[in-house]
Amino acid sequence: MDVKGICLLFGILAVVLISSTEGKPPSKCQCKIAARERRNCGPPGISAAECRKAGCCFNASVPGVPWCFTPKPKKVKKVCPADPRIRVNCGYPGITAKECLSRRCCFRAHPAGVPWCFYHRTVEEGC
Ligand SMILES: *[C@@H]1O[C@H](CO)[C@@H](O)[C@H](O)[C@H]1NC(C)=O
Repeated sequence: MDVKGICLLFGILAVVLISSTEGKPPSKCQCKIAARERRNCGPPGISAAECRKAGCCFNASVPGVPWCFTPKPKKVKKVCPADPRIRVNCGYPGITAKECLSRRCCFRAHPAGVPWCFYHRTVEEGC
């Protein structure tokens, strides 16, 4: 592996570490919970800002249910993006399907003019 490859590897590692850091505010997706299934998070009367700072979801649109509530656990999955325009190259021109898959990337031999071997994307499930 050359220097560029090693840099790339550390870059990917850094991204994985940052994205798995706890204490981030929950995503919209994680806060999509039916009003009657919400579990209270934080004391009554907590402000929206304090609520989010505590890593909880805030939604005051339904009266009589907790406004600050516990988010759903984040579920992500890896997919091969369907849109060719957003492909991020994982190979080189003329790479074979076998070589591409050994890099654990997606392979689609069409259309022309975009990478055929490209990275997965992680998308959030349950939105
Ligand atoms: C707040 O909750 C209501 C009812 O579940 C939902 O329709 C609305 O989209 C939510 N608002 C936000 C900003 O998430």
